[in-house]
Amino acid sequence: MMKNEEYRGVSHGKVILIGEHSVVYDQPAIVLPLNEARMSVYVQLRTDADLYIDCEYFCGPLRSAPDMLSNIRVLVERLIYDFSLKNKGFNLVVRSTIPHERGMGSSAAVAVATVRAVAKFAGRALSFKEEFEYSQVAENIAHSTASGLDSAAVASDSAVWFQHGAEISTFAFDTDAVLVVADTGVTGSTREAVSDVRALLKSYGPNVSCETWSSIHRLGQLSFESADALRANSMRALGESMNEAQRILSSLRVSHASLDRCIAAAHVAGALGAKLTGGGRGGCMIALAQSSSRAERIRAALTQAGAIRTWLVPLQSKGIH
Ligand code: PMV
Repeated sequence: MMKNEEYRGVSHGKVILIGEHSVVYDQPAIVLPLNEARMSVYVQLRTDADLYIDCEYFCGPLRSAPDMLSNIRVLVERLIYDFSLKNKGFNLVVRSTIPHERGMGSSAAVAVATVRAVAKFAGRALSFKEEFEYSQVAENIAHSTASGLDSAAVASDSAVWFQHGAEISTFAFDTDAVLVVADTGVTGSTREAVSDVRALLKSYGPNVSCETWSSIHRLGQLSFESADALRANSMRALGESMNEAQRILSSLRVSHASLDRCIAAAHVAGALGAKLTGGGRGGCMIALAQSSSRAERIRAALTQAGAIRTWLVPLQSKGIH
């Protein structure tokens, strides 16, 4: 069956610049779109009233899809109800270049692309806020209590300033710097890392936990300092904030030998700063390069250090909502 471009919804991956883990404790975080990693969802009309899905994990009736797709099933049921699409059968075709379980927001990206495709099919124009809220219907099933960071980031084409309980905003900056993103190839469990940080905050009596709380607060301050550095095009300051954040994340025990190896290689290749991104314990890291040519050099060094994939993210943002 042909893919129908008319009812295509797209989104992209995301990368956390700064603020992972502390964002769980209401501190701010900065997230960037990862446009090189794409998600497309197509709605193909059917002549009957059945719903089908065709994705990497399963191809068949949506109602018989495995539990891991219940987030998408519940989201589609909600969209059908809200958009009055009852009795209109369709096939949902999901195509992605976003790797799974690497902290790149693939589950939120499929949710946002699905919302966009079904909204197009229904002839509805949705606001950023509506796309975000629908995506959270799926994300709350996939991750039980999702902070919303991923949904906001994959629904936005600009850098996002995210703080739980506050209005989600984007902001603008224009630099020549490039972020090199590298996948260590090691699967890290965000859920486990988050729960271990929580245990650390409660453990070892008042002194250790007090130190851990100040680490969380310092990570929050580093997000403010990074935003200032981005606006002022001060890449050295941004690199220093990233390095300090990595030292703190290491002390919170969410780094990993594979990340440490890549971070060290990035420094030797001339990165202004380098840190893990996302939940840690494997997954991805980022390195700040002052120019595209330096980014290529760092990229080569990261591949040499064992990274299985790399992406380049120019540090520019329009700031649209
Ligand atoms: O691993 P990711 O990219 O899904 O990022 C997790 C970010 C955390 O702050 C560690 C958790 C969260 O829910 O915000």
